[in-house]
Amino acid sequence: MSPQLSVLKNGFVVSAAIGMLANIATAIPVSGLEKRDVYTPPVTYPHAGTVWYKGQRHNVTWDTANHPVNITNKLGRIWLRKGDITTPVILGENFDILLGRIEVTVPWVIPDTDYSLVLFGDSGNFSPQFSIQE
Ligand SMILES: *[C@@H]1O[C@H](CO)[C@@H](O)[C@H](O)[C@H]1NC(C)=O
Ligand SMILES: *[C@@H]1O[C@H](CO)[C@@H](O)[C@H](O)[C@H]1NC(C)=O
Repeated sequence: MSPQLSVLKNGFVVSAAIGMLANIATAIPVSGLEKRDVYTPPVTYPHAGTVWYKGQRHNVTWDTANHPVNITNKLGRIWLRKGDITTPVILGENFDILLGRIEVTVPWVIPDTDYSLVLFGDSGNFSPQFSIQE
């Protein structure tokens, strides 16, 4: 292996490790110190393999089990994301984050397979990528 390649490989390993540490750090709960907890429920639908067609109505669902007693921001909002970019398209907002589902209309967007949703309560939580087709 050339020295250059090993530098690149080491550089990659180091940055990946830092990324993992950052994730662990943000995942450590600070509850108990605060009366109100940041709450980011996981999206359960749509999931990987889901195909939506424009104009259809669907229930976006998320898991509300284990939610903290006191939540900083009870109002949810759902953004559409494509690839690594959160689009300006809002599928729903001002709903109670503890409902666990909200009916949305599939927007008229370029058909593709790399859409996902961001459910915002206190901070964003991404769904897996899924398809929107015409
Ligand atoms: C939730 O908020 C209420 C009212 O502010 C407070 O009395 C209670 O201790 C809080 N509970 C938790 C688990 O933080
Ligand atoms: C969404 O869920 C509600 C409650 O279960 C149901 O009444 C409604 O028909 C569902 N909507 C769709 C589009 O499936």
